[in-house]
Amino acid sequence: MVLFALSLVFHTLASIVWVGGMFFVRAVLIPSLQGWEAPERFAVLARVMPVFFRVIWGAVAVLLVTGYGVLLFGYSDGLGGGGMHVDIMQAFGWVLILSFVYLDLGPFRGFLRARAGGDMDRASRKLDDLRKGLSYSLFLGMVTAAVGATGSLWAY
Ligand code: HEM
Repeated sequence: MVLFALSLVFHTLASIVWVGGMFFVRAVLIPSLQGWEAPERFAVLARVMPVFFRVIWGAVAVLLVTGYGVLLFGYSDGLGGGGMHVDIMQAFGWVLILSFVYLDLGPFRGFLRARAGGDMDRASRKLDDLRKGLSYSLFLGMVTAAVGATGSLWAY
């Protein structure tokens, strides 16, 4: 029971870090840099975003271990023992994880490469892709967290 409760605590905290982190970058950091000259804006993002992605990958690992831990050890029926909300949460969760793999390896690394090569236009386009991808992921992350938090009220 203690392990089950602890897993849920860390699962919830990891989802707060992930969704809250996306919210901070998309709704606070990126708008705050608007109007800055490209070199300064790029310098801030090139410094902050690798830390952001590292933190998110840590949160994803905690989410997966605790989420599947709860299913395997918390429910008597194992992996299939959760309600419909857990199935939805897993499906949305994996879409989110794949979209983050894409955002990190695609637009973000592309931005870093373009900036290092002095191609400011390309770096700007890559940042735009990152901003749009983060908007979709933020929305999906909020929906997923809402499904996880309210599911026990409607999924059984
Ligand atoms: C990808 C695999 C995932 C698995 C296997 C998983 C599994 C679970 C399980 C078993 C529960 C307990 C549900 C219950 O007993 O009613 C739960 C709760 C929850 N999950 Fe997930 N989850 C996953 C991903 C996510 C993601 C991506 C998010 C958010 C970004 C998330 C947010 C939550 C929240 C907020 C709760 C509610 C905790 C509470 O208030 O009790 N989960 N999850």
